Amino acid sequence: MPPFLPLLFFSLQILNIAFSSPNGMRIEMSHIDSKGNFTQDELIARSAFLAKHRRLLIDTLDSVNLPLEYTGQYLIELSIGTPPQPITGIADTGSDLIWTQCYNCKPCFSQPSPLYDPRKSKSASNLPCDCNACVNVDGANPDICCSYSILYGSGETAGILISDTFTLGNPNEVSILDMVFGCTSSSGGSFANSTGIIGLSRSNFSLISQIGMEKFSYCIHPNVKSVSPMFLGSSAVLKGTSVKSTPFVSSPASFYYVSLTGISLGSKLLTIPETAFPLMEDGSGGVIIDSGTPLTRLVPDAFQVLSQEIKSIVNLPEADGSAYHLSLCFSLGKSSVPNMPNITFHFDGADMKLTMDKYMVTLSNGLFCLYILEPSGGITNSIIGTYQMQNMHVLYDLKNDMLSFVEADCSKL
Ligand SMILES: *[C@@H]1O[C@H](CO)[C@@H](O)[C@H](O)[C@H]1NC(C)=O
Ligand SMILES: *[C@@H]1O[C@H](CO)[C@@H](O)[C@H](O)[C@H]1NC(C)=O
Ligand SMILES: *[C@@H]1O[C@H](CO)[C@@H](O)[C@H](O)[C@H]1NC(C)=O
Ligand SMILES: *[C@@H]1O[C@H](CO)[C@@H](O)[C@H](O)[C@H]1NC(C)=O
Repeated sequence: MPPFLPLLFFSLQILNIAFSSPNGMRIEMSHIDSKGNFTQDELIARSAFLAKHRRLLIDTLDSVNLPLEYTGQYLIELSIGTPPQPITGIADTGSDLIWTQCYNCKPCFSQPSPLYDPRKSKSASNLPCDCNACVNVDGANPDICCSYSILYGSGETAGILISDTFTLGNPNEVSILDMVFGCTSSSGGSFANSTGIIGLSRSNFSLISQIGMEKFSYCIHPNVKSVSPMFLGSSAVLKGTSVKSTPFVSSPASFYYVSLTGISLGSKLLTIPETAFPLMEDGSGGVIIDSGTPLTRLVPDAFQVLSQEIKSIVNLPEADGSAYHLSLCFSLGKSSVPNMPNITFHFDGADMKLTMDKYMVTLSNGLFCLYILEPSGGITNSIIGTYQMQNMHVLYDLKNDMLSFVEADCSKL
């Protein structure tokens, strides 16, 4: 071996090598409430509130009047530019575009300063006005070069698309050249404590598409104070003999639709109307798997059947859980927590079993509640949320168009 080789290798490592398309990487997601000082009851209620009202872009047309903000649940830290400027984005499988508030953002929902400033980055560049991204981005205004605007429930986010180098990864950082993202100059609404959104949908604009990776996975840690690992590309691998897979349902929208064919409580298959879950031609209905929805919500046709069935097996007085945004609660009184059967979500080709700790919660005041809910009015889709996927390693395989999952200890991945 020539004597200079180890030295060369060493310097490549410190030099933060930039890729146009890396092989694989690990990043960490932190919970939006990880830095807050919330009680267990508050965490339960905050997640329920978000799950009940979370709107994906597909819902905004008929629900713009709802007084709620769009927001997400997990944050990713990364840096943009040369030298790197840190930003915090919401990891969102329900969003297409990556965007962050820029230095000139006004009005903006929060100002975790300093905001990204492309003027201070040697690697930032404008895009040609007629490029594919500029022509096809949401809300492109042909009069303003490469502008976009996205209407969320509570307001509009607008700015221009630019490109720059992204640096991300933990423990190993990787830099990726020429990422296209929105430099937001005005934004309404509230987006947790982030500076923007990291779109992870199937769209060409998403992080996952832009870095040319064919798969990604994550594992939701049950403790909000702990990080949940996410793996991109070749490092996204499920281990074990009980990996289950179900095909994604194709649709013009960029969400990850899955086919939920039924739900069982214990050994009993619930008699849910056949129309409850399928994705309709007009884009309504459907069941989406989503990193930004904290707990599963089922359209009323399905929720009512599940909730009736649970009432029939729980021998406790019903109680009002509305203060916690929950639809079905019981009062434990002096009784101990009853033993409940498992719920099975029957996906096309893959059963997902939920033990009772993944669908019931006990509050400090003795309420015992179903931790699955109905969406707020005007929303027609069902969503499989993250509470039900705790300690499950979930893989989105875009090449094979499959969702796979397996039980896992997220703290060991
Ligand atoms: C968190 O809240 C508890 C109870 O309200 C309080 O005793 C504690 O000091 C708080 N901790 C921090 C870091 O604010
Ligand atoms: C932002 O973080 C603080 C704690 O650091 C928390 O109290 C607040 O609720 C968070 N804001 C949002 C919108 O999540
Ligand atoms: C992505 O781009 C390709 C080629 O430009 C196009 O055929 C495809 O429809 C695009 N897909 C999405 C989801 O935008
Ligand atoms: C639920 O599933 C778990 C884990 O697979 C199993 O150990 C348990 O016996 C099941 N519970 C019931 C009530 O069937």
